Amino acid sequence: MNTNVIGKPRTADGLLDRYWLPKVALVFISIASFLGALLTMTMHGAQPLEAFVRWLNFAALGALAGGMMWWGWFMRRPHDAAEVSTVAKFAVAQKERFRLIGGGALLVAVLTAPHLLWFDAWANNPVARGLWFANIAAFIVAIALVARTFMFSRDDAHAFDAGMARLSAIGLGLTLIITATLDAYLTFPTQPLAWVLRSIHVLAFALWIGGAIWNIFVAVPAARATLAMPVVISAAEQLERFRVVVRILLPTLVITGLIQAYPYTGFNLETAFATFFGQLILIKLGLVIGLVGIFITCPLWRACSPIKGMCDLKDLPSAAQPTPTQRIDNRGKGCAGFVQIQKALDGMGPRDVLELLSSDRISWWELPAWLEQQGHRLLKQERQGRWLWQSYRFLIEKGTG
Ligand code: HEM
Repeated sequence: MNTNVIGKPRTADGLLDRYWLPKVALVFISIASFLGALLTMTMHGAQPLEAFVRWLNFAALGALAGGMMWWGWFMRRPHDAAEVSTVAKFAVAQKERFRLIGGGALLVAVLTAPHLLWFDAWANNPVARGLWFANIAAFIVAIALVARTFMFSRDDAHAFDAGMARLSAIGLGLTLIITATLDAYLTFPTQPLAWVLRSIHVLAFALWIGGAIWNIFVAVPAARATLAMPVVISAAEQLERFRVVVRILLPTLVITGLIQAYPYTGFNLETAFATFFGQLILIKLGLVIGLVGIFITCPLWRACSPIKGMCDLKDLPSAAQPTPTQRIDNRGKGCAGFVQIQKALDGMGPRDVLELLSSDRISWWELPAWLEQQGHRLLKQERQGRWLWQSYRFLIEKGTG
C-alpha cells in the first residue's frame, strides 16, 4: 500500500496496478536497443556476448545521459516562492536517488569500457583510428563530469542548480555521437548520411532510456518520500516535459531506424522475413508499435505514475485549482488576443484569476513570456484535445504591481 496526495491509502498496487505500463515500455526500449547493438556488432564481426557487453555500455551511458537531461532541464524552481522549500526537498531527494541509480550506471559504464579496446582490431585506417581515440577521450571526460555532478550540494539553496548536470549531459551526448559515428563509419565508410543517422538514432535511444529510468526509479520514489501538493504538481510538470521530449524521440527513432534498415532489407518484406538482419529489424518494428501503444495509453489510462495527479494534474483535488473570475474563449481565432487579455486584466483586482482558451499554437510559448514581461503569473498551462482539435488553456493570476 502507498499513500496518495490527499493522504488516503491507495490499494491499486500489485497485479491490478496499471503502473506496470512504463516498466513494460522500459523493457521494450531495452530489447529494441539490444537488437540494434547486436545488428551493428555482428556487422563488425563480433559475437552476441560481445554485443551484449556493448549494449550494457550503451544502456549505462543512456541512463546517465537521459538522467542528466532530466536533472539539467526538467527539474525547475517553482514560480510560487511559498512552494520553493517543499519542491527543493523533492529535487534533492531525486538527486540523491539518482546518485544511487546513476552511480550504478557509472560503474557499469566503467566496467564495460574495456570493450572499446576491441576496436583496435576493427579501426584499421586513420579516420577510424581518429574516431576511436576521440571516443575514448570523450568517454573519459564524460565520466569525470558525471562523477563531479554527483558531488552536489544538499543545501536547499542549490537544489535547482543545473549547470553541471547540463555539462554532463552534453559530454555524454558527444560520447554517444562519436561512438555511433565510429560504428556507422566502420560499416559504411563512404556514406556520411549513415553516420549522421546513426548518431541521431543512438542519441534518441539514450535520452529515452535514461528518461524512462529516471521516471520509474527516481521521480516516483522521490515524490512518494516527500509527498505534498506542490511536489505532485512539480512531478507532473517534469513528467510532461519528458513526454514532450518522447513525442520527438519516438518518431526520430522510427524515421532514422527505417532509413538505416534500407541497406539490409531494401524495404522488401520478403527479404526482411528471410534474413537474420531483416528479422531483427521486424522485431524492432513490432516493439516500436508496442511502444507507441503504451505512449498513447499511459496518460489516457492514468498509468504513468502510481501517484495521483502526477500523470495528469486534472486528477488533483479541485482545491488545487483556483476558480477563475473571468474567462476569455479565443478558440478558432488566429492569435491569443493580447489586447483583449490586457483589457480583461486591467479590469480585474490583484490576484484575480483569468481563464484563457486559445487555439493559437504560438500562444503556448508566447503567452508565458508576455505575462512575465507584464508582471502577471501563469498558474497553469495545459493542452486540451488532439491534432487539429488541439487547444490551450491558461490560468493567469493578475499581478499585484
Ligand atoms: C522502426 C524502428 C526501428 C528500426 C527500423 C531500427 C533500425 C535499426 C538498425 C537498422 C540499426 C543498425 C544499423 C547498422 O548497424 O547498420 C539500429 C541500431 C540501433 N538501434 Fe534501432 N531501430 C528502430 C528502433 C529503435 C528503438 C526504439 C531503439 C531504442 C529505444 C533503438 C536503438 C538502437 C540502438 C541502440 C542501435 C545500435 C547502434 C549502434 O550500435 O551504433 N532502435 N536500429
